[in-house]
Amino acid sequence: MAEAHESVVLLKPVQELAVDCNTPPQRYIHKRGDEDIGVNSPVIDVAVIDLDSMQSSSPSAEQELEKLRTSLASCGCFQVIGHGMTDSFLDQVHGIGRDFFALPWSEKRKWSRTAEDTEGYGNDSELSEHQILDWTDRLYLTTNPEDQRKYQFWPQNPENFREILQEYTEKIILLNQVVLKALSKSLNLQENCFLDQYGENSNMVARFNYYPPCPRPDLSLGVKQHADGSAITFLLQDNQVDGLQVLKDDQWFSVPTVPNALLVNVGDQLEYVTCVCAYVQIMSNGIFKSPLHRVVTNSERERTTAAVFCCPDSSRFIEPAEDLISETSPRLYKKIKNYVGIFFENYQQGKRAIEAVKLY
Ligand code: OGA
Ligand code: NI
Repeated sequence: MAEAHESVVLLKPVQELAVDCNTPPQRYIHKRGDEDIGVNSPVIDVAVIDLDSMQSSSPSAEQELEKLRTSLASCGCFQVIGHGMTDSFLDQVHGIGRDFFALPWSEKRKWSRTAEDTEGYGNDSELSEHQILDWTDRLYLTTNPEDQRKYQFWPQNPENFREILQEYTEKIILLNQVVLKALSKSLNLQENCFLDQYGENSNMVARFNYYPPCPRPDLSLGVKQHADGSAITFLLQDNQVDGLQVLKDDQWFSVPTVPNALLVNVGDQLEYVTCVCAYVQIMSNGIFKSPLHRVVTNSERERTTAAVFCCPDSSRFIEPAEDLISETSPRLYKKIKNYVGIFFENYQQGKRAIEAVKLY
């Protein structure tokens, strides 16, 4: 986790700021010059992968793997169905986020993060007065391993919040394993190649994102452009309101919501492992790129999403198996530990963390 920063100031919720607001305060203005902030971006067709059929030995399994490869190469993300979660369960997951943010501020603040902690209900950490802030409030909770949970930040309102998040976590742990295996297979690597590094006892953080209506979507972003610091991220999008955009070939595309699907994107730590040495870079053909993405705002409607970031244990060094490194396939990145800590420092400054861990 990010180091507690002495000068962290807790900011007023954007949800409160948004009430009676005609123009976002200067600190929330992302638009610079004539640059188009892209509220009318074209829609990208992200492949929908059926995990169910991938696990069978039928010819359709090979087809799904091929689709997965193509989609990762084209935009670094894909949508999964056949994940074993019902519509009504996903509605409940979405519902606990939506209902939490609908509570009055006086109630929500019982689970506010403190200046010393990154977890809980809050928004951007303000590390400098020049930082541009995101038009969003968040609820950020470590969900796995269980002994790292900080229950003082887990809401008990709505009543079923903890129970649903517990169930969702159990399901995401299994899904993470299935997806990591599929990703290995898509590169013709051993099925357990990534799972051995990431899957067992991986760190998971759930983040419920709430984007209040914004009076000027042409000026402010819900989340500024970033790549995730995870190995992989599972995103449950709002089933009514779009907002996510992904950068492909220097152009922003909007990612539509597919009913009952979870959007999976590669994060920096998987990019790191697959390009940490030339050998795997060749194997992966450079396709595991953690995509730059951002969230645009909407003047009429609020939007709630739930992201789960899956990472290797932060106390472990991550690196490729030694036998993948050789004279002809040298190490390209530093050996690192606690990438998420490195990530947060860089994110708040609008920098890419993965640049900071390159050796050359
Ligand atoms: C994130 C993120 C996208 C969304 O939380 O890292 O990119 O649509 N969220 O909420
Ligand atoms: Ni993200």
